[in-house]
Amino acid sequence: MKKITIAIDGFSSTGKSTLAKQLANVLGYVYVDTGAMYRAVTFYAMQNNWVSENHLDKEVIISNLNHVNLKFQYNADLGFAEMYLNDTNVEQAIRTLEVSQNVSKVAEISEVRAKLVQQQQEMGKEKGVVMDGRDIGTVVFPNAELKIFMTASAETRAERRFKELTEKGQRVTFEEVLENVQQRDYIDTHRDDSPLVQAEDAIVVDNSTLSKEEQFNLVLQLVNDKI
Ligand code: C5P
Repeated sequence: MKKITIAIDGFSSTGKSTLAKQLANVLGYVYVDTGAMYRAVTFYAMQNNWVSENHLDKEVIISNLNHVNLKFQYNADLGFAEMYLNDTNVEQAIRTLEVSQNVSKVAEISEVRAKLVQQQQEMGKEKGVVMDGRDIGTVVFPNAELKIFMTASAETRAERRFKELTEKGQRVTFEEVLENVQQRDYIDTHRDDSPLVQAEDAIVVDNSTLSKEEQFNLVLQLVNDKI
């Protein structure tokens, strides 16, 4: 069976990573969560006080990019790869609302994008990869055999993210989460470099109305048509 590249893009909290992980496990493909990479760079910048709610030290972030070493390491118990920043596991630390509130500002920086896109292209060069993000089908792998664009209403997405965060014990309100989802979508779709747009040849999956299982079966069928 031929190996293909599967690009999954879309708005925040549309369930991209759940779908991508399921697909990668069933197909025996590598899963790459590119959002985790932008989150890890943001976490690094936050630790150094280069980004916060009201400021962004863009030039300092750029000049320190060579000190950021990102790695995914597979965790067999979890069934997916966790994010390591300079050899420290940051998988939990990068999922907080604080990181979510800063990440889109850091992801606007072209130098950050160039570095991460190059690593993503390297990770996917052998195909057999499911990669999710915002610019995978448009910039990272414009020739991907299958491109999915995921969407759902902002409320559905905020509810999902709110549940996820509170289940992990984080103290957030639904309104904060909804505001963050809407703010990230705005920045992600309006930035100059690699804005979030649907690739012309992407297939739209709106999961406001689909169960996880229906969504998975639908996309698996699309994969089977390609391999
Ligand atoms: O996918 P996730 O919601 O974890 O991504 C966090 C943020 O990282 C996005 O809101 C976006 O600003 C940025 N991102 C990006 N390009 C990607 C993946 C994520 O700009 N390919």
